[in-house]
Amino acid sequence: MELSTEPAIDIPGELLDLYGEFRPTPLFEARRFAETIGTDCRIYVKDEGTTPSGNHKANSALWIAYHCALDGVGTIATETTGNWGVALAQAAARFDLDVLCFLDTASAAARPDRAAMMRDAGAEVVVVGEEGGGDFDPLVLSANAAIDHVRAMKDVWYIFGSVYNYFILPQTLVGQEALAQLGGDAPDVVVGSCGGGANLLGIAAPFLGRPGVEVVCAESEHCPIVSAGVFGEYSIDDRDFYPRLRTYGLERLLGSEYIGGLGSTIVAAPVAHFHRQGQLATRTFTADDAGKAARIFAESEGRTVALETGYQLAAVIAEARSRSRERILVNISSTGHSRFA
Ligand SMILES: Cc1ncc(COP(=O)(O)O)c(C=O)c1O
Repeated sequence: MELSTEPAIDIPGELLDLYGEFRPTPLFEARRFAETIGTDCRIYVKDEGTTPSGNHKANSALWIAYHCALDGVGTIATETTGNWGVALAQAAARFDLDVLCFLDTASAAARPDRAAMMRDAGAEVVVVGEEGGGDFDPLVLSANAAIDHVRAMKDVWYIFGSVYNYFILPQTLVGQEALAQLGGDAPDVVVGSCGGGANLLGIAAPFLGRPGVEVVCAESEHCPIVSAGVFGEYSIDDRDFYPRLRTYGLERLLGSEYIGGLGSTIVAAPVAHFHRQGQLATRTFTADDAGKAARIFAESEGRTVALETGYQLAAVIAEARSRSRERILVNISSTGHSRFA
């Protein structure tokens, strides 16, 4: 699956039933949000906040848990800034798998509810401390901790929660469903926030390279992985554990502000590919911009969204204000509070 060149991959029946418990997720038009920001563009929101974990990661979590169970894996270790750990813990519980989540201290402090949700679903949570320097990459830090654990234990498997195709593939359900819900009529603009790239590629997959559709990647100014990433060979850990990919990477984060899952210093190879081809635009925001956009959305649409979703709403506001009468598609990648900067 990781290296497949097939244009489409079938979803096994058992998984289809599980997805069917919450898919298709709703798509709604955010009219009051559009009114509030003063645009005549129509803004369509694909609501992945209605998955069991309240975020888009549930799609990959079920897929991965299913395949792990099929392969006889008993225990999975992973890194998380919160949302992924919740999704994996819940999905793994459906297949009787044990999960160990390595969570960085900044995420544990910024959204304490996520660790509680992981534990509620039966996962063990290990909070990993800062190893000096404010610009450490929390994802690398917790990935390294998970890998060290896996190396020391027998029969524990490490699964990274983004970047690689096994994770991205199930996310592409989101964009395909949205296109069907729009009656097959592609929007003018598709917006997704980008950490490792799964969220962006999930909503944008059917639209990338399609004439007349602009795909916009929303990133953090402290991790401008797409606009400032350097093409090379990178892995998500610095323990020589996961395979290297030819893609964009950053040496380090450019600040210490909390940016949740947008602090990935490596991005999925297709994101780098489409950006190099000129088929992916970027918009870069501060956590303050993201927080403001999330607040406008909460006040106008009555939905509280996570920090990462705030970044993509900031991009929607920027796009909507620079266009007229166009159709913009975005998703809620997660509900739930985050402490904004
Ligand atoms: C709610 C939410 N949105 C978006 C992202 C972006 O992540 P990725 O690009 O790896 O899918 C994350 C990552 O943790 C997230 O939790």
